[in-house]
Amino acid sequence: MILLQITGRLGGAGAGILKAPAVKRKKYWVPVRCLRTLRAVRILSIESSCDESAAAVLDSDAGLLAHAVFSQIELHRLYGGVVPELASRDHVQRLLPLVREVLARAGTDRKDLHGVAYTAGPGLVGALLTGAALARSLAFAWDLPAVGVHHLEGHLLAPLLEPAPPPFPHLALLVSGGHTMLIEVRAIGAYRLLGQTRDDAAGEAFDKTAKLLGLPYPGGPALSQLAAEGRAGVFEFPRPMLDRPGLEFSFSGLKTAVLHAVRDHELTRELRADVARGVEEAIVDALCAKTLRALEQTGLETLTVSGGVGANRRLRDRLVRAVTARGGRVYFPRLEFCTDNAAMIAVAGLARLAAGQHEPLAIGARAQWALDSLPPVAA
Ligand code: KG4
Ligand code: ZN
Repeated sequence: MILLQITGRLGGAGAGILKAPAVKRKKYWVPVRCLRTLRAVRILSIESSCDESAAAVLDSDAGLLAHAVFSQIELHRLYGGVVPELASRDHVQRLLPLVREVLARAGTDRKDLHGVAYTAGPGLVGALLTGAALARSLAFAWDLPAVGVHHLEGHLLAPLLEPAPPPFPHLALLVSGGHTMLIEVRAIGAYRLLGQTRDDAAGEAFDKTAKLLGLPYPGGPALSQLAAEGRAGVFEFPRPMLDRPGLEFSFSGLKTAVLHAVRDHELTRELRADVARGVEEAIVDALCAKTLRALEQTGLETLTVSGGVGANRRLRDRLVRAVTARGGRVYFPRLEFCTDNAAMIAVAGLARLAAGQHEPLAIGARAQWALDSLPPVAA
């Protein structure tokens, strides 16, 4: 079904699974038989770009058969942020049991699989390498093609996991711990970056200001919870870039402003909640204003919101109200697919494997990776 949704939008490019891949076969170490001969495609996917270990099984006909996430939050909480080396070591322990678990839950034997997808970047390079090494080793042992997926493409395609997926083209607001971007999504694999943050990402702003308020890592959900008790307008924090044209964001000034508020006031629980409310309002205001401006500029009517900050209730409500009022529609992944997961990696991986894309045997990962450098998906 998912493949149909994907291929339908690609104007029949899914026929790519019946064709030889666009690139010469001899470049590849893995056989591509299954991608050329099979209509239904079932893949295993692995995500390990930061502090979530995850695996999933996705079938082009039956949809998502299983997905599992192990969050390392407790491991990193003591340090107030992700410790890369600890993340890598924990992924090594968690990933294989997660793979076993999703295969069992999906009632899937390795013989039922047609490929393996994994997050190849951007992210913490050590963490990425653990998933890449496991995925490529499994693919080699099982004689399957493997494809390295761009983590942000995974986030962008997460809304396709929903029963009512967004039509193309659309505007995507991608708001995670590391990225804040407005992207025109013309089709799967056709992305145009319209604007992004100049400094901190929205998630980073939530996390850093939450830390200043003494809230536990990761700060986003904790700050948002505290903000629900706060009063609007008690603390007004800056909304940089709003008075300027363009679609860029800047959130680094927010933490300085919050630092001053925390230093200058004797903060009772009530006042801390007011600060949290002020922070959330400032971030949500900036995100909404630039998103609406992007819809205006591109003439697009459909918006998707993905990434961890897309789980924020105030942001979701504000965007739904504003976009609906101008006759558009907003699509969100369900909450569990906003934050890092392997189901979204499977969607991107399935589209690319189905289009005949996969890679040589060498294991690699990229800490930095420009989204608009991806090849198109149409075969
Ligand atoms: O997409 P994600 O899981 O990981 C990255 O790829 O970065 O996003 C994690 C970010 C963290 O900064 C976290 O604080 C933020 O998403 N986040 C939230 C909420 N849930 C997660 N921020 C605001 N409100 C939330 N409810
Ligand atoms: Zn992410």
